[in-house]
Amino acid sequence: MIDKRAVPNFIFFGGKGGTGKTTCAGSFALKMAREGKKTLVISTDPAHSLADAFGVTIGPEIAKIGENLWAVEVDAEREAKKYMKQIQDQMLDLVSAAIVEEIKKQLEIAYLSPGAEEGAIFDKFIEIMHLMGKPYDLMVFDTAPTGHTLRLLTLPEVLGIWIQHLIDRHEKARNLMKASVKYDEILKKRLEDDPIIRVLTERSKKFEFARGILTDPEACEFIFVLNAEKLPILETERAISLLEKFSIPVGGIVINKVIPQEAGEYFERRREVQEGYLKDIYQRFSSYRIVSLPLLEMDIQGMSQLNMVADLMGELIEE
Ligand SMILES: Nc1ncnc2c1ncn2[C@@H]1O[C@H](COP(=O)(O)OP(=O)(O)OP(=O)(O)O)[C@@H](O)[C@H]1O
Ligand SMILES: [Mg+2]
Repeated sequence: MIDKRAVPNFIFFGGKGGTGKTTCAGSFALKMAREGKKTLVISTDPAHSLADAFGVTIGPEIAKIGENLWAVEVDAEREAKKYMKQIQDQMLDLVSAAIVEEIKKQLEIAYLSPGAEEGAIFDKFIEIMHLMGKPYDLMVFDTAPTGHTLRLLTLPEVLGIWIQHLIDRHEKARNLMKASVKYDEILKKRLEDDPIIRVLTERSKKFEFARGILTDPEACEFIFVLNAEKLPILETERAISLLEKFSIPVGGIVINKVIPQEAGEYFERRREVQEGYLKDIYQRFSSYRIVSLPLLEMDIQGMSQLNMVADLMGELIEE
């Protein structure tokens, strides 16, 4: 009997564009759902293709798409709007009426800034993570191509430090003010219940929660999908060292679209080149579990086709 190790309950599939992240995330989720795990599959790629891969409709709200299987595609634009509205409401509570219009204008500009979408996706991502156990046993993330995902996953550390710095500075200023309003009881009370510190501390807690999960090898695992080609190999190597720097555990590698031996003469030369890359992959990534999936004759689309490759994905969890 195969001894199954305990599967971490947050699994991310990432890698270079077009390598097969969505296919692997989808088939792995199906495999786990088939084994009885209540599985939620989440797309954080603004260019979603989860619905196409499964051949069902998937929207921005979690919906059941099969036995033990739920799915959601995070809508970046919708979340960014919600996120900005929430920040605006919090800010408008804190500032004087005189600068309300100015704050609104600033927030509209911020909404268009490059980081806003990631911040918003991240907030949604944390909200979803809180649903673990309610009722989900496992969350499988189909992520955007490498760069976007790395920024997303390293956000809690980077923003966490930044927010802590803001809190420290604000605390310092507050202490100075406290000393100067020693005899003014009303002002003193207002300073003690400082809404800015409250908002910043809430955000900081969210980031700590995400970071706690993302850096716990028992809870989280990142799986890279690559093809036996030069650029995906180099990109994967760089991404792994970045994730390691941020202590995000890397669990396995899927080599997808491996040209099978029986592919015929036409592919002979291509297969020779592939052999070299396969050797390279097994050497470079020898400390990780490696699974390989053959290049099939057709695209892998729809539940039944995903189901066909689902068994091959099992090797990712069996030792
Ligand atoms: N092993 C395979 N054999 C044949 N076709 C495959 C295989 N794996 C994936 N495909 C097909 O290749 C295409 C790209 O796969 P997929 O969408 O999973 O990649 P991706 O990494 O998620 O892409 P993106 O970066 O655009 O999100 C899809 O049409 C899919 O059906
Ligand atoms: Mg995809």
